Amino acid sequence: MRKRGCQNLGILFFCTIFLKMLCYGLFFFAISSKIGKRHLRIRRWIGKQREGVFMIPLWIWIIAVLLVVGIAVAVLLSSYENKRLTVEYYEIESEKIPEAFDGYRIVFLTDLHCAQFGENNQELIERIDECRPDMILVGGDMVISRESSNEEVPLALMKELSAKYPIYYADGNHELKLARNEEIFGVRYKDYVHSLKEYNIHHISNETIVIQSETGFISLTAFDLEKKYYQRFHVPRMPLSHMESVVGSSPGNIFHILLAHNPNYLKTYADWGSDLVLAGHFHGGMVRIPKFGGVISPQFQIFPKYDAGEFHEGETTMILSRGLGNHSIKLRLFNKPEISCIELKKRD
Ligand SMILES: [Fe+2]
Repeated sequence: MRKRGCQNLGILFFCTIFLKMLCYGLFFFAISSKIGKRHLRIRRWIGKQREGVFMIPLWIWIIAVLLVVGIAVAVLLSSYENKRLTVEYYEIESEKIPEAFDGYRIVFLTDLHCAQFGENNQELIERIDECRPDMILVGGDMVISRESSNEEVPLALMKELSAKYPIYYADGNHELKLARNEEIFGVRYKDYVHSLKEYNIHHISNETIVIQSETGFISLTAFDLEKKYYQRFHVPRMPLSHMESVVGSSPGNIFHILLAHNPNYLKTYADWGSDLVLAGHFHGGMVRIPKFGGVISPQFQIFPKYDAGEFHEGETTMILSRGLGNHSIKLRLFNKPEISCIELKKRD
């Protein structure tokens, strides 16, 4: 009996275990089939996405990756280059340069657009000092004609430089925009010019002045171009008669420097009788490709004829600076900010 009882208890025990396992099995089967279905749906969805993704041709993938990497490299390189000042040295020879100006050094600054090199532009000032200039010529666009901007940075720079060097300042399209739009910018331009004059800076506009040394002199003209000559996509022709009507006739046989912010009109400047034209505005074409030069001008000219460096038209030389800063698109590639250091040489 005991044995049988034990056997019955054993059978009951195993039956209970079996039933429990059966219940657990059914339960897990039910659960797993639900999960399985869901899992299947997820797998199908992922499959579809993968199918879609892998349907894009490989060459598009390669271009997309190269573009992303290229943009990242360009942004990093540009932020590096924007701060790497360079001094470009030029020699201008002419029989018209008087003895007294043989070896005379000019620093030409343009297109600062409120940029700073070191605290309070100390790095910029030190690099200008390296050139040991006899005078500084400013080609304009030291400011940014935007409501959110102000003239503190260029004024602080001009004030410090004016304590060391004589400075002659001509306007660019940004100063002229401030001047022509008082309803937007108020009296910012008037205040700016007033401050320049307080620092004994010669602000010149559509006029010719004489720069005298003890035994000789040269002449300097600032030519402010009208708004239409700065329009985008289209470069209107500028007749010589227009230039003459604005700045008068050229000073003839005297060695003559023209400050004209826009380089597009070298032919007109040469016909007028400039010996040396100093221009900016194009920021070196923003991105410079070796052997091709600058890619785009602020007037959206692709591969502009004049981008940066020295150009010649008849007897006239134009030095076109890459400028110091930028405004709307802060991009510079293979195009470091420039201080132009120019030495005049008398040709025998
Ligand atoms: Fe400009």
